[in-house]
Amino acid sequence: MTKRDFLALEDWGSDQVEELLQLAARVKRGEISGGLERKVLAMVFLDPSLRTRASFEAAMFLHGGHAVVLEPGKGSWSLETEPGAVMDGDRVEHLVEAARVLGRYADGLGIRAFPRGNDWVVARRDAIVRDFARHSEKPVINLESARRHPCQALADAMTLREKLGETAGKRFVLTWAWHPKALPTAVPASAALAAARLGMEIVIARPEGYELDPEDTALIRRIAQQAGGEFVHIIDDPDEALVGADAVYVKSWGSVKLYGRPEEEAAQRSGLRDWRLTPSRLRSTRGSRGIVMHCLPVRRNVEIDDAVLDGPNSVVVDQAENRLHAQRALLLELLGSPS
Ligand code: CP
Repeated sequence: MTKRDFLALEDWGSDQVEELLQLAARVKRGEISGGLERKVLAMVFLDPSLRTRASFEAAMFLHGGHAVVLEPGKGSWSLETEPGAVMDGDRVEHLVEAARVLGRYADGLGIRAFPRGNDWVVARRDAIVRDFARHSEKPVINLESARRHPCQALADAMTLREKLGETAGKRFVLTWAWHPKALPTAVPASAALAAARLGMEIVIARPEGYELDPEDTALIRRIAQQAGGEFVHIIDDPDEALVGADAVYVKSWGSVKLYGRPEEEAAQRSGLRDWRLTPSRLRSTRGSRGIVMHCLPVRRNVEIDDAVLDGPNSVVVDQAENRLHAQRALLLELLGSPS
């Protein structure tokens, strides 16, 4: 039987994603217990996490299973990820053996690997997560790679449904925010793809130079059209972008064009601190009631003001809670037998 990985939301059909969302809602209502008894999830974190790690560990425990967490180089062997590497340096274990061996201990693997290196053409291939999937005989879950964060996207879709009810035709604004670091584009691309799947009108607001990977923008357009949503609008004004928004998803990301050129990227970003969600901007959302989303962690008063994060429009903690429910559904689907 072919194993099923969860590397990107778009790899799964609309019906499959719909089933996951419905299962997640049932899990959240407390309608399902057990289902992962004696199952093991092995997670490899090449980059840090609070939500992803804690929610997956909790999810496995809640359904009777167990999670193993490895942080290569911090208690487990440092990992060589390059195919064909001559391993005469510091790295002790190759990804190929790690994937094969963990697949013998666990029923599923989770991998977090942010973009590495200085070349976007290489980083955008998501080689680490994809190579784990290739070499593991068990399902692999992407815990955030260079291009995608599908578990976040699933929780985002669940949150949009819960908070907005019918999502079709409602306006989803993904707005760039200033941040001291150039962050990956996995979350903004995945969030826009999730909203597109829900048939929402998509607005992407970003300063010039912060376009998403063109392939991702094209995919967001295609999925929005397939789902009956409006065309995707690209705007470079943070005030105009929020007018009439039903949901505002705030996220910072680095320039794809200047990937691997940190000094030029920082210079380009330096004049853009005004890209921040303030109470006055929030007032231009639909009826001033647009929900405010962020994947977290968030830089308070840099990306979003305290008054917004602590105010009634903010759903960021509910969104983070939904990571747990969405992933419980995903694990039941991939590793268990939901009843
Ligand atoms: N949103 C998210 O993935 O959070 P962590 O990086 O803390 O896992």
